[in-house]
Amino acid sequence: MAAGDKARLVVLASGNGSNFQAIIDACESGRLDAEVVRLIVNRPGAYALERAATHGIPAEVIDHKAYPDREAFDAALGEAVAAAEPDWIVMAGFMRILTDGFVERFRGRLINIHPSLLPKYPGMNTHARALEAGDRVHGATVHFVTPTVDAGPPIIQGQIEIHADDTPEGLKERIHGIEHRIYPQAIEWLIEGRVDFEHARHQPAPAVVDIDGRVIAPAQG
Ligand code: GRF
Repeated sequence: MAAGDKARLVVLASGNGSNFQAIIDACESGRLDAEVVRLIVNRPGAYALERAATHGIPAEVIDHKAYPDREAFDAALGEAVAAAEPDWIVMAGFMRILTDGFVERFRGRLINIHPSLLPKYPGMNTHARALEAGDRVHGATVHFVTPTVDAGPPIIQGQIEIHADDTPEGLKERIHGIEHRIYPQAIEWLIEGRVDFEHARHQPAPAVVDIDGRVIAPAQG
């Protein structure tokens, strides 16, 4: 990234795109010295497309159903991503498992947000699983993407307390609140060079913040 240039972000999404919106807002407010240069969605009706249109962000649909297999879809996706010349590729509710080839191609520049305190609850239904386990806290993690799903080096976690009367739906909403705080924060750290893949890989634990952004547990190392 040349000095003085804004960081170039490509966002991958499949649905509502509320995290995409939080990133747009952080760019527009000047909090992030970054620009979303392209949104790519794999579902034609994704609401994230409306958000891109509202904010004048170029958007593209690459419908996975139009491709014979995962490799062909990922090849098309990889070309579209590379053509936008991103510094970072930000997965924001992108509901496709990516091939190892895609992940390796963009290693160190590909990040994701997952609605649990990883390594707890990789995969789906994280809110119900946290409730069923009787956990006292729950949260979300921004992490670098590696070939094993939801297992890449974590950058930051946001943590909330689980209430006795919480439901999976209610928890999901509160988790979204903390996601919108930590995703811009993680991108800010990447842009500032405060964290990179190797740093994240070697730190014993990521920074953990509460809903007000207060650090609960500092990153060590
Ligand atoms: C978020 O909960 C994120 O953690 C998960 O997918 C959801 C996307 O929500 N990966 P939105 O589309 O950003 O509103």
